[in-house]
Amino acid sequence: MSSGFSLFPSAASVTAHRTDTLCFALVGFSTLIAFIITAVIVVFCIRYRRNARVDRHHAPTDAKGLEIIWTLLPLAVFLGLFVWAARDFTRLYRPVPDALPVYVVARQWMWKVEHPNGRREVNEMHVPAGQPVRLLMTSQDVIHSFYVPAFRVKQDVVPGRYTASWFEATQTGDYHLFCAEYCGTRHARMTGRVHVMAPEDYAEWLDAGADAPRIVERGFDLFRQHGCAGCHHAESSVHAPELAGLIGREVHLEGGGRLIADETYIYDSIIEPDKDIVAGFDPIMPAFKGQLDEEEIMAIIEYIRSMPLETPVQRSSHD
Ligand code: CUA
Repeated sequence: MSSGFSLFPSAASVTAHRTDTLCFALVGFSTLIAFIITAVIVVFCIRYRRNARVDRHHAPTDAKGLEIIWTLLPLAVFLGLFVWAARDFTRLYRPVPDALPVYVVARQWMWKVEHPNGRREVNEMHVPAGQPVRLLMTSQDVIHSFYVPAFRVKQDVVPGRYTASWFEATQTGDYHLFCAEYCGTRHARMTGRVHVMAPEDYAEWLDAGADAPRIVERGFDLFRQHGCAGCHHAESSVHAPELAGLIGREVHLEGGGRLIADETYIYDSIIEPDKDIVAGFDPIMPAFKGQLDEEEIMAIIEYIRSMPLETPVQRSSHD
């Protein structure tokens, strides 16, 4: 991390240079267009001012060719920039296979981070260099925004919803983490550090926290403690939807709607089960609003994600 003033943060992720190139192109083209328009205004102001002795006869009343050019050329340039930006944007939001998951819960005014092996930290995030890291994020209170300038990563963190982002750090070192969404009095102090470590140092660091229960184990314990297993179990006598393989699956809802089950859908189903009833099931699930916090629900989601797809049990005609 550079000390002192610098106009640009260091570029320490695989996408940083692409983002910078796009940013420079946008600034460059906008400046060029602004410069051309300003130049024409200035030249015309001087040349055709009231007292200027210029030939004003035969002034053209239309110039179709010129109009077509000055309309289509900037249109093409800026549509091109849009397509370029859209490609980079979708690349940033497409999940990367084999990414290392890291779970982030934001609250006023701190970043709570959990690793798959159960190691937790606050306002710090340790990650290995040279490996894609996928962040799954939610907020406990208001909207925050996870922002690491050196990685060119900025993603809103929204209560009641899960957002994801990924980066692959290229250089070891410490990088600023900011909250980039005004979230109350101490918003400006909602900062942290991302420590990018060599893979072997990272493995060592992770091992030092191996005594904590893994996030999936924590999820399993919560799943049992809150009685979820009583209904959501293949052999249960209560008719409840099967959860194994749920994330990413299409779910048909009572009333004819359908959706792709994601983390937010599971969150909603726990907090407000009556919101989306699965077709063919009775709305019998109790709401867990106020009984589970965001980190606990995150753990339950990861437990559900980890459920093995066993030989499907024929449970109802609706599957
Ligand atoms: Cu959190 Cu601003």
